[in-house]
Amino acid sequence: MKRDLTTYLDLSLSDVEDLMQLAEAFQQKHRRGERKESTLDGRVVAMIFEKPSLRTKVAFEVAAASLGATPVFLSSSQIMASGNDQRGRESIQDIGKNLERFADILVARVYHHEIIRELADTVSKPVINALCDRYHPTQALADLMAIRWHKKETRGLRVAFVGDGNNVATSLMHMSLMAGMEFAIASPKGYAIPVEEQASGRQLARTHNTKISFLHEPAEAVAGADVVYTDTFVSMGQEAEKETRATLFAPYQVNPTLMKAAKDDAIFMHCLPAHRGEEVTNNVIDSSQSIVFDQAECRLHVVKALLVTFLTK
Ligand code: CP
Ligand code: NVA
Repeated sequence: MKRDLTTYLDLSLSDVEDLMQLAEAFQQKHRRGERKESTLDGRVVAMIFEKPSLRTKVAFEVAAASLGATPVFLSSSQIMASGNDQRGRESIQDIGKNLERFADILVARVYHHEIIRELADTVSKPVINALCDRYHPTQALADLMAIRWHKKETRGLRVAFVGDGNNVATSLMHMSLMAGMEFAIASPKGYAIPVEEQASGRQLARTHNTKISFLHEPAEAVAGADVVYTDTFVSMGQEAEKETRATLFAPYQVNPTLMKAAKDDAIFMHCLPAHRGEEVTNNVIDSSQSIVFDQAECRLHVVKALLVTFLTK
């Protein structure tokens, strides 16, 4: 049966552990300077991106090339955004049915999660969600790898997310709870993680015998935290809300005062891109507690692990 990664919940605990071990092995190889192998020789990775990207695009392109595969990058302006139809030149199903004749795996960054679902339901090749409005599962895998890198034992850690209950927060919640970490999030009223996802979080917390809290007060979420995480206040596609959000989210900035509420050895994380002076201050993101660029590096190792797993295992 083909495998998809549409949300982090598509992964079992053993999938996650296998991916982590493979990603960590890729990191060791990377450090030894072993950058090229033929594991995926002749394979093609099609990448449909409706939104901008630095880390995800580069991670998939570099991972594919270093494993011997060919990445084919397709921006929305090339394949979707021309023509009168809101969706572009042709339906997403037709795009998928064409691409599966050329490529072995489809990677998609889209505005609406339903597009990821349609692709996954239509094509016979694996589909990887490279970010949508609701989830960012490849980010969460890299986040787990980065936490393991810096914290060794993950079970029992407290992860605090401060800010918008967005795609990154939702996948981080799924990942943290599945790994047996406690998860607390503080968001302004009306900007919490969507209620149906809160329900999935509560269920995961029960299953994995850990705790979850949906809060409004940043210091309450960060109290005693081992990991303090934030993301932009304005995700891609929400640009029209920038001013309203700037005011509402101002008290949710991660700054040295807020970091003091966390444990002394807490790490600071951010998926990036960061908006310095908005959701985080320079003296936090550039501090010795910050692991944001290690997180970015993990994107590459995790993507290699995903490609090898979905294409060969
Ligand atoms: N964190 C992340 O997904 O970065 P990009 O948007 O640059 O890919
Ligand atoms: N929440 C952000 C994440 C960017 C990687 C967005 O969706 O724009």
